[in-house]
Amino acid sequence: MTPSDDAGKRAAGYAAVDRYVRDGTCIGLGTGTTAFYAIERVGQRIAAGEQIVAVATSIGTERLCKERGVPIVGLLEREIEVAIDGADEIAPDWALIKGGGGALFREKAVALCARQFVVVATPAKLVPVLGAFPLPVEIVPYAMPYVLREMRRAYPDIDIIRRGTDTPYITDNGNYILDCHFGAIDQPALLDTSLKTIHGVVASGIFVGLVHDVVLG
Ligand code: A5P
Repeated sequence: MTPSDDAGKRAAGYAAVDRYVRDGTCIGLGTGTTAFYAIERVGQRIAAGEQIVAVATSIGTERLCKERGVPIVGLLEREIEVAIDGADEIAPDWALIKGGGGALFREKAVALCARQFVVVATPAKLVPVLGAFPLPVEIVPYAMPYVLREMRRAYPDIDIIRRGTDTPYITDNGNYILDCHFGAIDQPALLDTSLKTIHGVVASGIFVGLVHDVVLG
């Protein structure tokens, strides 16, 4: 990451918090290097006296929140006014690929629960079509052989990389992740739906129809 990437991420994270987070509310906080700056900004606002609580999208984010004095609540313990999170790819219609940090399941849960879902990113994440970034798919470990067989049958050209090949990468939910190259993803909603019909697939990193705004830095 270059210093200007980092400045862009900070600008996006801070701007989203300043624009969308109100004192006295519950918010969702995302995972990743851009969402980090949103967490940092919320910590500053709380230190200045505001009453904001957050739902974390990962154990890592929960730890960062605690370090910065951001109180954590459980999912839907309070209504989530806005969730702020990063993305790996953003299509022109704001369909996303997320989950490069492995937190896709909880990120999608929080986005679904939030009244507004705001994405923070640098312009490098804007793409004409999704698919250059490998799509993370969270899998129940027991079902891995079946899921691999079914995915290869349904998508013969797919290139599947098991995340953490030597020591499997384990998500916060105790599952595995497959990073999948499908080529250009022209119909992300359809792909997401069809992946979820495979027994053992927990969630894909495709987010469609959820984004309220994209804040670029
Ligand atoms: C975490 O699982 C991801 O969905 C991140 O939000 C996404 O990978 C973007 O991360 P960066 O902001 O670090 O690029």
